[in-house]
Amino acid sequence: MNSPLKLQNLIFMLALLGILASDTSAQSTKKVFGTLGDGTTVYLYTLQNSHGMEAQITNYGGIVVRLFVPDKSGKLGDVVLGYDALADYVKDSPYFGALVGRYGNRIANGKFTLDGKEYVLAKNNGPNHLHGGIKGFDKVVWNAEEKMDAKGQSLVLSYVSKDGEEGYPGNLSVTVTYTVTESNELKIVYSATTDKPTVVNLTHHSYFNLAGAGNGDILNEELMIDAERFTPVDSGLIPTGDRQSVAGTPFDFRKPIAIGARIGADNEQLHLGKGYDHNFVLNRLGAGLFRAAEAYDTSTGRVMEVITTEPGLQFYTGNFLDGKNVGKDGKAYKQHYGFCLETQHFPDSPNKPKFPSTVLRPGEKYLTETVYKFTVR
Ligand code: GLA
Repeated sequence: MNSPLKLQNLIFMLALLGILASDTSAQSTKKVFGTLGDGTTVYLYTLQNSHGMEAQITNYGGIVVRLFVPDKSGKLGDVVLGYDALADYVKDSPYFGALVGRYGNRIANGKFTLDGKEYVLAKNNGPNHLHGGIKGFDKVVWNAEEKMDAKGQSLVLSYVSKDGEEGYPGNLSVTVTYTVTESNELKIVYSATTDKPTVVNLTHHSYFNLAGAGNGDILNEELMIDAERFTPVDSGLIPTGDRQSVAGTPFDFRKPIAIGARIGADNEQLHLGKGYDHNFVLNRLGAGLFRAAEAYDTSTGRVMEVITTEPGLQFYTGNFLDGKNVGKDGKAYKQHYGFCLETQHFPDSPNKPKFPSTVLRPGEKYLTETVYKFTVR
């Protein structure tokens, strides 16, 4: 006869088996990615789902190094530009796959005034401040924690940006969670709190090529952006403050059209940006997740939707790539070899009172979410 103790053990074993059986995916994996000049070791984490989708992310800059998604025949391909080695990211990267902050995109003349006080930021883009400055969030080492729950495998990255870093006020505690879901999504949740009023605008800077990284340019890939208006820029790529209608211009992506169809058009805004490098004003009504864009590659059938809580989307066509960046598998990335869809608040908002506010105050919580969802057609 079973003693009560044995019965308890049996129940415990059965419960454990139940937990293991309901666990559809294994734990994420972690390996050394490289060592920085100061001796810090950084890691490469692999998040997967049961369909084979896989994101490889390093805690250096929160960079998505590889992103494997299936094509219409089920074949996995890496759809983001990047490097094989950490040293290449450290040496020279145009924000490949990076987590961008404290402020994504430009702040004019590297300064802004908040509550009557002027703050002077690092200038790293001519006279302007770009993507958080000289050492933005794309170049810092994040604390990393692997997590797994019903939603999928996650990597929780956290970083405290010190008061005064790159010129910004306030100690900013940031947490960014990347999750690979069972619906073939790369989901990114950004949150932050501060101990002094500051400005925050976090984004993700993957260069996508749905035909596979390094496999030619993205000009034949189709794009839809759900925006009636965009924010035109001046010669320094700073928004003028206007919101211009896309109707009748090469900026009309309301219906899907090849990215390259009008990129060479004689249009002042395209000349200024050397292609598309503009913020779109999303057609959202109220708060919540909004389907902002959809890209489609006819050759592989890959579709990527961009769903976000943000009001803006920076569409950048890799205009500054010139073949000098030799990426994964020795492939050189030439102009237009990738496109970025950076969900965000509008560039230069700290100096544009009519743009949605990017101010974060003590006691408030910055919380945004963006999903890159992959399907096939
Ligand atoms: C953003 C900017 C571009 C460029 C790239 C990085 O998309 O808008 O002008 O700086 O990042 O090269």
